[in-house]
Amino acid sequence: MNRSSLFNAIVIVMSIVFVACQSKVETTAPTASDALYSEKHRPQFHFSPKEKWMNDPNGMVYYKGIYHLFYQHYPDSTVWGPMHWGHAVSKDLVHWEHLPIAIYPDSLGMIFSGSAVVDKDNTSGLGTKENPPLVAIYTYHAMEKEKAGHNDYQTQGIAYSTDDGMTWKKYHGNPVLKNPGIKDFRDPKVFWHEQSKKWIMTLAVQDHMEFYGSPNLLTWSKLGEFGRDKGAHGGVWECPDLFELPVEGTDEKHWVLLVSINPGGPNGGSATQYFVGNFNGKTFEPMYNMNDTTWLDYGPDNYAGVTWSNAPDNRRIFLGWMSNWAYTQVTPTQRWRGATTVPRELSLQASGPNRYVISRPVRELVQHAEEKDTTNANRALSLIEGEIEAAKFDYVELSNAKGEKLRIGLDKKAKEFYVDRSEAGNVTFSKEFVTRAVCPRLSNDATIPYTIVTDVSSVEVFFDNGLSVMTATFFPEEPFTNVRIVGTVEPKEMSAGKTTYLKKIW
Ligand code: FRU
Repeated sequence: MNRSSLFNAIVIVMSIVFVACQSKVETTAPTASDALYSEKHRPQFHFSPKEKWMNDPNGMVYYKGIYHLFYQHYPDSTVWGPMHWGHAVSKDLVHWEHLPIAIYPDSLGMIFSGSAVVDKDNTSGLGTKENPPLVAIYTYHAMEKEKAGHNDYQTQGIAYSTDDGMTWKKYHGNPVLKNPGIKDFRDPKVFWHEQSKKWIMTLAVQDHMEFYGSPNLLTWSKLGEFGRDKGAHGGVWECPDLFELPVEGTDEKHWVLLVSINPGGPNGGSATQYFVGNFNGKTFEPMYNMNDTTWLDYGPDNYAGVTWSNAPDNRRIFLGWMSNWAYTQVTPTQRWRGATTVPRELSLQASGPNRYVISRPVRELVQHAEEKDTTNANRALSLIEGEIEAAKFDYVELSNAKGEKLRIGLDKKAKEFYVDRSEAGNVTFSKEFVTRAVCPRLSNDATIPYTIVTDVSSVEVFFDNGLSVMTATFFPEEPFTNVRIVGTVEPKEMSAGKTTYLKKIW
């Protein structure tokens, strides 16, 4: 069964389940507006839709001081369905304001994932030089065509905004890139390539990426392709991103290609791999023969992430969908389903001949943290930072009064970090909900700097300054309020570093 038919089947089954449970859910769900964002499992400082379903972040673009976030959204249900682009904005990457749905499905199809750019020279002619348009490039998914057995049901369309991203109009000439008869042909990520003076679109096409060029965002021609025989191929390739990153502490720069794949992730289901190399204007060339696949995040819950276009100060800011297709449609939330990771800043780190992408929470998040308030010891943990001796470290344990706990540790023999969520709450909603996820330790340093970001139902672990990263969701009865670090040498209790608390953003 291909991915879309699988989607169809899932949607039908889940819609039946949803409809069957719906009346009960709706009548018991809180109705007062202040109860929203206080529901059990609701993230308190991560973005999540006010209600109903979200998956991939889309069209992230910074313009005139505002970070725009669009996202795959089905406003009628808490399971996947006909996709719209939901919309939210932020000035600081921490606080989000919900805006009306930006892009609705139309006769050409549902609105699947894609990107947005500032067309500052008005190459498209959709705005003016004085008031440049923002242009969103997305995939149309024509469900009827797919059901009728055609292969060419995914095409690329555009919408544009002439009011700084607040409202969007569809381009009359859609689709701007037709389908050559290939089933998986989606998720355009576009940027302006100064060297070749062209817009470049990276498109996920089944088991590889294709690159298209355009002078004006309206007409596209194929330039090259990459990846049929490179990297992990346990599933379909989706949601690319392509950008240049500096190697920290050097003048070196390389191109990075992000490739989300589903299934086939290192801990099962969905995950995002990356390649480091060069983009020559036509295709991507990896800089060395990467024998092992490199993953941006080894945890089970960071998928379809891409970076902001036009971010200030050359920052490369990434945001992922904090879930996994293997079980996302049955996670135990009620009024809404889906959230994003925290925004992360990406850069490269050199290690011998290798260049690794490292990620760290954006500084805005850390600035938002309050110092520990000792009069209120029962608050949910949120940010734990410190440094531990690798030789003595066993695990960090987050727990609550109900005895639920999450362990994040180091298996020294295997040289692997792990996140064990087997006792962190409800794990019975899906057999695919992997309870222990692992991640190689790439660094040989004697100490391990760490940052742990934990919200009501998620943990994001950044070991070795963001070289080994894991994101995992969990669903406890109560938020975790206690942290301890356990070592292998007596006395086993180690210092838990600095614990700060992030204010609720809603
Ligand atoms: C990734 C993905 C994309 C697609 C979208 C549909 O999670 O499958 O490839 O555009 O979700 O919602």
